[in-house]
Amino acid sequence: MPTSQIPVITIDGPTASGKGTVAHRVADKLGFHYLDSGALYRLTALSALRRGTDLTDEHALAKLAEHLQCSFQGGDIVLSQENVSDAIRAEEVGNTASRIATFPAVRHALVGLQLGFRKAPGLVADGRDMGSVIFPHAALKVFLTASVEARAGRRYKQLIDKGFSANMQDLLVDLQARDDRDTKRAIAPLAPAEGAFVLDTSNMNADQAVDQVLQWYAGITK
Ligand code: CDP
Repeated sequence: MPTSQIPVITIDGPTASGKGTVAHRVADKLGFHYLDSGALYRLTALSALRRGTDLTDEHALAKLAEHLQCSFQGGDIVLSQENVSDAIRAEEVGNTASRIATFPAVRHALVGLQLGFRKAPGLVADGRDMGSVIFPHAALKVFLTASVEARAGRRYKQLIDKGFSANMQDLLVDLQARDDRDTKRAIAPLAPAEGAFVLDTSNMNADQAVDQVLQWYAGITK
């Protein structure tokens, strides 16, 4: 099948909106591949933090992104042969990822890697700009959102479950700062892509959100 005909479902949205969980489950149900594009920004951030790279040096950060030695093995994310699945979820790494994601050269360096995930029989891609920039011709585009309180609650639970400490008030402040950076940046700002279906999951559990996405997709492919 030519790459241009491999179906893509994009699921974009703000931090802690539940995109990851929903995208993963949709991919499982359809037997599609899954791209967690945020993980690529987090891997670049983790590499930079560990190497002590100057976080304002766009060129050096783009080089790091371009030469990331990473692989996705089952549910595990491996960086230079080390399993960093949990390490990249730390808040410091997420905040650094959101800062370096504002650099055009860093975003550009990660494009090829992201396009490479489009393989038969299909792909579910989650991030901020999957539907607007990376896969503008996706079969289905979803913009998943939720209130800042609901998202802070989900992030709190996720961090505690992973054994990190967390404080609700700090999380709310962090989330708002990250929303601000993601929506106001000059390049690929966070916004629903043209033609995206918007899904507010504040009062929905993950299964309900997954069902809605699958229903939309079935409507498109029938
Ligand atoms: O878990 P959370 O939604 O906060 O973040 P993530 O999806 O793991 O992505 C980490 C950071 O990378 C985000 O805060 C975004 O600023 C950035 N990102 C991006 O700019 N574009 C993407 N396609 C995915 C992530």
